[in-house]
Amino acid sequence: MGGDPRSDVYPGGIVDLSTSGRPGILGLESPLGAEDRLQLQRLSSSCAFSRLPGGSPGMGAISRFPVSHLLVTGGAGFIGSHLVDRLLGDGHRVTVVDDFDPFYDPSIKRRNVEPHLRSDRYSLAEIDIRDADALRRLPGEFDAIVHLAARAGVRPSILDPIGYQEVNVRGTQNVLELARERGIRQFVFASSSSVYGINPRVPWREDDHVLLPISPYASTKVSGELLGHVYSHLYGIRFVALRFFTVYGPRQRPDLAIHKFARLMLEGRPIPVYGDGSTRRDYSFVDDIVEGIVRSIAYDRSPYAVLNLGNDRTITLSELIALLEETLGVKAAVERHPDQPGDVPQTWASMDLATDALGELPRTPFPEGLRRFADWLRG
Ligand SMILES: NC(=O)c1ccc[n+]([C@@H]2O[C@H](COP(=O)([O-])OP(=O)(O)OC[C@H]3O[C@@H](n4cnc5c(N)ncnc54)[C@H](O)[C@@H]3O)[C@@H](O)[C@H]2O)c1
Repeated sequence: MGGDPRSDVYPGGIVDLSTSGRPGILGLESPLGAEDRLQLQRLSSSCAFSRLPGGSPGMGAISRFPVSHLLVTGGAGFIGSHLVDRLLGDGHRVTVVDDFDPFYDPSIKRRNVEPHLRSDRYSLAEIDIRDADALRRLPGEFDAIVHLAARAGVRPSILDPIGYQEVNVRGTQNVLELARERGIRQFVFASSSSVYGINPRVPWREDDHVLLPISPYASTKVSGELLGHVYSHLYGIRFVALRFFTVYGPRQRPDLAIHKFARLMLEGRPIPVYGDGSTRRDYSFVDDIVEGIVRSIAYDRSPYAVLNLGNDRTITLSELIALLEETLGVKAAVERHPDQPGDVPQTWASMDLATDALGELPRTPFPEGLRRFADWLRG
């Protein structure tokens, strides 16, 4: 338990981790009910959350943690609803904060939470994270926060930079304030591969000193990571920033390329392709991302960490279209457009640091993930 005093790496350089050594969620500081204690005994007896000998996380070393009450912001969204599936399935109590933001059809998010509402270990608070007072009135004691609520999407952030700043930066600070006021010691933050921007040196490593964001969205994620460092240093809140690389799978946001293309192709309509098809993305299947988040909830090696969650493998836009054609059994009619401002030419995650910190993470092969997405889309 507690902090291994090794330094964590941050793109701005090696940071001072003099605050290490505080117990986190595995320290079981918050009171547990009888049901929780029972679950905890069951988990303990199967040693499901113990580390491998020698202190090295290694393969599958941390995939569970003691039964806890988790606050998940953005838990009605794409990634958040998958995370809640998993947390409830593992026996945890979950409170979701989500304002059903209209960035895409809120009825999709209502459908996402429908099965969760049937659990008596689930609560939903329809709160805007910009509203600090409403957050403060949130009932419950939480062992950890997973902060996913955000305005997501690169291109729309160029049209509404102030709106993105208010939700993604001020909103994040409000959630961090909640952690500070309530003494919540573990905070997992959804950052993004977009923070690397046009850094030409690939695969992107967390210790690269080159962050060259090219959209307001990306800059808000850089700000979130930096705010997290402040709260980690000043208040001992363990902060794990996870840089997600293009996440896909069932319930994927409708604005993202895979979902948008597949829907248009099935409707026999042309797909808008920006650029010559050579842009590359490191795609991550949503279940693999959820596993990374769950392990980060249990991460206790140091008070601050920034980790990539991707696949260390890239696919060009042209390859994606060919794979979609194969998976859906439909030929795509392509409508070419010039490159879009804010779009980066490539994303590519080095997974060395995340593997060292969290153990070997599952990496669903892209054709298999695409098949599972297509099965969901076809209903
Ligand atoms: N999907 C990806 O490929 C990807 C990649 C990198 C980072 N991320 C990050 O992961 C997180 C989840 O992304 P997602 O794809 O599931 O997006 P999503 O839009 O499906 O989920 C975000 C959720 O946050 C909620 N929300 C938005 N503004 C809010 C506010 N002011 N108050 C309360 N709730 C609010 C939305 O209603 C939504 O349910 C985001 O922080 C996003 O920036 C996603």
